[in-house]
Amino acid sequence: MFNKKHEIADKFSISEHTVIHPGDCLDLLKTVPSETIQLIVTSPPYNLGKEYEKKLKLETYLDQQAAVIRECYRTLAPSGSICWQVGNYVENGYIIPLDAVLYPIFSDLGLRLRNRVVWHFEHGLHCTRRFSGRYETIIWFTKTDDYVFNLDPVRVPQKYPGKKYFKGPNAGHYSCNPLGKNPGDLWVIPNVKSNHVEKTEHPCQFPVELVERLVLSMTNEDQWVLDPFLGTGTSIIAAIRHGRRGAGAETVPKYIRLARQRIRQEMDGTLRTRPMNKPVYDPIEAGNSLTVAPWTGNQGMAQPSLLDKSAGKQG
Ligand SMILES: C[S@@+](CC[C@H](N)C(=O)[O-])C[C@H]1O[C@@H](n2cnc3c(N)ncnc32)[C@H](O)[C@@H]1O
Repeated sequence: MFNKKHEIADKFSISEHTVIHPGDCLDLLKTVPSETIQLIVTSPPYNLGKEYEKKLKLETYLDQQAAVIRECYRTLAPSGSICWQVGNYVENGYIIPLDAVLYPIFSDLGLRLRNRVVWHFEHGLHCTRRFSGRYETIIWFTKTDDYVFNLDPVRVPQKYPGKKYFKGPNAGHYSCNPLGKNPGDLWVIPNVKSNHVEKTEHPCQFPVELVERLVLSMTNEDQWVLDPFLGTGTSIIAAIRHGRRGAGAETVPKYIRLARQRIRQEMDGTLRTRPMNKPVYDPIEAGNSLTVAPWTGNQGMAQPSLLDKSAGKQG
């Protein structure tokens, strides 16, 4: 079994296991030898003017991202993957999907898009002039066609696990893979907001379980996972949990402290996280009494269905 307990180094060296560079990601990347990193996974700043970023002109922001992505490409192993997790850039109430404007930077380097995973969650800001945003994306690129992809460790339970062929040469045999099914490219995973067990004072963490799925499928044991915009250390936590090496950079001292603290807790086995593949909370199944809207009362005054012809008559 892989030993999870290692020193957290400040400087990258391939003999280390865990590295947090307290500073700019380009400075970290410059110290990483070419073709050493198996998975680069990150959620970069979205240029929204959050507490850790200065809102820039979109072109300037994209130029900065391009400089980081070029260095990521250089450090990426030939069998490696880059996963860039992004949402929307918002300008005067209209949106620009960041994956769309970042895509040319990756494709111009020759990176190959394998999936655009939609990450759906239930919580977030309530918009009044457009539909509330309830998904972000992960664009997954590989450097070559000869890339690591391990499906079995990330299979999810089948909907009908006992289903069998009822005719033909396989009659009586299970019709689906007993190890579970491919999780697909729509991932329903709660985001790290208010009551989430992983919530810290960082405004934009991604959940450990989301990165675990990427680490398990795109790397093998002992390989390197690097996050240029580390935040609270989530990517390194997912990496060392599964016997991989982890590195990242972060500029804000309070997040560096949080990342170190969480990574040490992970090494000690005391970090609380939401388990991978846990179904999303279902209030009816959980027996929660607050499942009927108060305005429906007992008189069956439920909101009329839009398809119900009588709905139109209620003014
Ligand atoms: C969206 S957050 C990432 C959060 C992270 N995924 C987590 O789960 O905690 C982006 C982070 O990048 C950091 N950052 C911004 N510019 C940076 C740079 N040039 N180098 C390193 N980190 C940077 C910010 O301080 C912020 O914590």
